[in-house]
This record gives sequence, structure tokens and C-alpha cells, in this order.
Amino acid sequence: MNLILGIESSCDETAAAVIEGGNRVLSNIIASQVATHRQFGGVVPELASREHLDKIDTVVDQAFQKAGVDLKDIDGIAVTQGPGLVGSLLVGISYAKSLAYVLKKPLIGVNHIEGHIYSVVFENPPIVYPALALVVSGGHTTLFLMPEPEKYKVLARTRDDAAGEAFDKVAKLLGLGYPGGPVIDRLSKSGDRDAVKFAMPRMGDGKLDFSFSGLKTAVLRYVQENQIQPLTSGQQPSQQILDLVASFQNIVVKTLTHRLFEAVRQHRPKTIILSGGVACNSQLRSETNRLAEDFGAPVYVPSPILTTDNAAMIAAAGYPKLLRGEASGMDLTADVGLKLQNVDVEDAQLVRKVRYRL
Ligand code: KG4
Ligand code: ZN
Repeated sequence: MNLILGIESSCDETAAAVIEGGNRVLSNIIASQVATHRQFGGVVPELASREHLDKIDTVVDQAFQKAGVDLKDIDGIAVTQGPGLVGSLLVGISYAKSLAYVLKKPLIGVNHIEGHIYSVVFENPPIVYPALALVVSGGHTTLFLMPEPEKYKVLARTRDDAAGEAFDKVAKLLGLGYPGGPVIDRLSKSGDRDAVKFAMPRMGDGKLDFSFSGLKTAVLRYVQENQIQPLTSGQQPSQQILDLVASFQNIVVKTLTHRLFEAVRQHRPKTIILSGGVACNSQLRSETNRLAEDFGAPVYVPSPILTTDNAAMIAAAGYPKLLRGEASGMDLTADVGLKLQNVDVEDAQLVRKVRYRL
């Protein structure tokens, strides 16, 4: 088991990758649909599935070409099984099943969240356990303790909105476009992060869980009280908007790092993993790195191309399973609420919300 083809189509990226030996990227092709969904301010599922169908063949072809590998050379195929949008997932799964059938290669269905966790294996030394993994994206905000490889204990998760969803909603409110995370990250560099005082959400029951919907409402209230108008296309943001987004980003980052380091203090991990689209955030990256030094545990953060949705991470998560001889049957199908295996939590279902709004 050496060369694995990964396929990811759970949301709005059609992606294929070939990896070698479980931790070397030979190709990592991503066709983003952001331009299609931007006008709607979120992902439109029907459009997403159609675009996956249009692109998957080309994307897989490119992945083989870039890797310099022939179809028959691969040893196995890993595909995202869930969580995600059913129509989108089905495109990748059907494609992967056909390839596996024709090539007579083993196929494994992979959990998208596990993929995000394993996105760090390419650019870092091997993960040392116990590890802590904070997965922050548009659909999930979950903090895992991993006592050993592929075993998970959920320490905290969001009770309402995911962190990326909060970035996207605040950006929409201010007319900053979609997706909101990258633009808020960029604009925050010109704002005063202490200008607007937002409270850090805390759980009444003392749990480490996250909650971001109250913060979104606080931003809305500030916008209304200060009569801030959303930007129209081409308009430059005022200093007031720059200060507002910098203050919003600051409190999101403080909330995430505060919970992360409370968990570090309690569990003393040997490795800290930060992954998912929001892990691209420059303030989150720098603050996590800075704080990590205090705890003496290295922080593994993937480079941006491996942080947002991609297929190399799916291949990486599938690799140890294929190596053990695990394989999904030809009855593999999409599971929108797929549970992580080996997870220790009362309700293991990690709901991945999709930013769908019209
Ligand atoms: O992991 P991902 O590509 O897709 C999901 O699985 O959801 O994450 C996308 C999310 C979006 O909400 C986007 O706004 C956010 O990641 N994001 C960021 C940044 N880049 C992407 N959030 C904050 N700062 C960024 N630089
Ligand atoms: Zn994702």
C-alpha cells in the first residue's frame, strides 16, 4: 500500500489528490466553486452537485497527470463519505466506486472531519500522542483529545454556529462578500481589535463547549445602534467597519485559544493540531503558536492549501485503514451525518452545518 488516490466532494470544492506512503503529496488538485455560490452568500446544494459532476473527471485526470502516476499504479482509493451535502458527496462516492470497480482496487469511505485532522501529516513530524485537535471550519468547531491514532474523545464542540459560519454571517451582514473568513482576516489588519468590547461566550455549566450565535447577534446590535450600512460593491470599508471586524475576529480567536489552552492545561498533549478552513486565520495561527510555547507542545497547522477542503487529507486519513486491509463495499453510500468511529462522547454525531441560505 503506497499510492493512494483521494477524492473529496462534500461541499463546494471538487478535489482529487495522489499521495505516497501516507505522508507525501504527489498532487493536490482543488476546483473551488466559490465564484458560483458567492452571489447567493452561501452554498446552494443543487448547484454544488452539478458543478461537482462537471468537474470531477478533469480534476481526477489532473491529479494523476501532476503526480506522474498511471491509473493502474494506485494501490487504493479514499473518498469522503460524510458529513456534508448528500448530492455533493454522492458525486465523489459514485466516481470513486466506479474507479475501484474497474481497477479492482480497495476503496475506503473517510470521515471529512478525520480528514481535516490528518491534514497535518504532510508537513510535520509524526503526530505524538496524546494529541489535541481543534477542527475549526465553516461546518464544525470541535476540540478532540486523541489518546492514540484514530481514537477520539470530544472535549468541546459548538452548541450553535461553527466559527467559520460566524465569520461568513458577519461578513454578509457588512456586505463584505463570501466566504467571509479571508476578507475579515485581511481587513482586520487595518482595524483596532480593542475598539469594540465583545464578551467572550462562556458555558453556564462550566463545559469547554463553544457558542458563536450570541456574538453574531452582538455584532448585529452594534451595527444597528451605530447605523452602519453594508458595503455596496466596490465601496471601501470605513475605519468603523475595520475596527468592528478586527474586534469580532479578536474575540473569536480569544475564545478558540482560551478553550484550546484550557484543554492543553488539563490533558497535557504531546502534539496540538489546528485544522479546518478557519485555521487559515492569521491571528489564530500566530496566537496559537505563541501560546503553545508556554505549554511546550508543538502546534501542527497545515499550510493554507491543505487547511481548507482538499483530497490529500482524505487520502491521508484513509491510508492507515487501507494499510490494515479495511475496505468499504460497493454498497458505500453518502452519510450526511456520518459519525466518527472510535469516538468517546455521549452523542458521537458531529453535525456539519452547511452554509446554505438564499
Ligand atoms: O474547511 P473548509 O474549507 O470547509 C468546511 O469544511 O466548512 O472551511 C471553510 C470556512 C469558511 O467559513 C471560511 O470563511 C473560513 O473557513 N475561512 C476563514 C479563513 N479562511 C477560510 N476564517 C477565518 N480566517 C480565514 N483566513
Ligand atoms: Zn472541511
